Amino acid sequence: MTTKNTQTNITEAKQTVSDKVAFDEMNTESVPLKDAPNLKDALKPKDTPSKKTPTKAAVLTALKNGKSRFISGEELSNQLGVSRTAVWKAIRSLREEGYPIESSTNKGYMLMQDSWLITKESLQLSLPYRYKNNSIYLYDTIDSTNTAARQLVLDGAPHGTVVIARQQTKGRGRLGRSFFSPREGIYMSIIIKPTFDVSKSMLVTSAAAVAVAEAIENICGIDARIKWVNDIFIDGKKVCGILTEGMTGFETGQIENLVIGIGINTTLKDFPQDLLDTVGAVEGDYSKSSLVAEVITRTLDFCEAPDDINFIDTYREKSLVIGKTVNVFKGKYKIDPDSEIPSRPARVLDIDKTGGLVVMYTDGTRETLTSGEITIRRTQE
Ligand code: BTN
Repeated sequence: MTTKNTQTNITEAKQTVSDKVAFDEMNTESVPLKDAPNLKDALKPKDTPSKKTPTKAAVLTALKNGKSRFISGEELSNQLGVSRTAVWKAIRSLREEGYPIESSTNKGYMLMQDSWLITKESLQLSLPYRYKNNSIYLYDTIDSTNTAARQLVLDGAPHGTVVIARQQTKGRGRLGRSFFSPREGIYMSIIIKPTFDVSKSMLVTSAAAVAVAEAIENICGIDARIKWVNDIFIDGKKVCGILTEGMTGFETGQIENLVIGIGINTTLKDFPQDLLDTVGAVEGDYSKSSLVAEVITRTLDFCEAPDDINFIDTYREKSLVIGKTVNVFKGKYKIDPDSEIPSRPARVLDIDKTGGLVVMYTDGTRETLTSGEITIRRTQE
């Protein structure tokens, strides 16, 4: 196995890694959550005293009095006798000062102890009713959430089980690469028991990519783009990678479980200098729990209605590569940089209904890629 870090590689990868049920790499080095001291210091309200406008101060008091329950914008506006816009502006401003205020569609706002921390409680509050009782395994430090999720599958974990960690010591990327997973990132794996045909497995990863991009947009207000197959980019830098692994049943030989692993960088402070040209992070003042909950919800919603492939339109709109000239690494055009045979230049024409990449090579032949990697060429013809 090569240990090249996947984050150095802005190329794309194969979707589903077919696999055996018996998985023997489980070597979890988990640390109980109560032993997570460093995160407690993250994103505390800033020490600098600020002059609060009457509305801001009133909103803050109302949220504090709310004692860990959501209060709707309407309720706040009625209670304080100010407009909804004034409430929203006050919330935004309080957040800018570092107050950890969670928001949830239809429920409103809640002042958290520390929104930078993902807690089971804050996650459950942010999840819609239909997913509130899903099993969530939350670790401070673990080897790999995908590895843990696979073990959970072997132990009989149900569809929709989620494993989340704040740090991974052996984060795994595609093609046997490692995935640098320093503290304060978001590392999560979702267990899916597909009721749909295996041919749709590739679509689940595409759906997850759309889920992440849209969640970043909704929760963090940042425009995120997708580089085929499933990397998420902000301002030309990779902020998220997705590794989907399939597990076949002994008896059926069919893929019975998928583990969708999603790694989101939220800060670059621990990244080595040599990665900073290509790697970015979803930075800012937002609730990690809200972001995670939205990714889980959107991904699981796709599994409920796998025939609804409208999200592919969003995937296309958010694609970084349609219309671009790329290098294709596939088959004999090896991903290995030492390969004698170079990559093959092609123009990206489209993403098809199955998530495949439709390309045209320089000799005019077309192909729909369902696996392999691409890099965007620096000079576009
Ligand atoms: C890639 O870009 O090559 C995919 C990276 C996938 C990383 C995530 S982090 C959560 C889950 N656990 C892992 O070990 N890998 C995935």
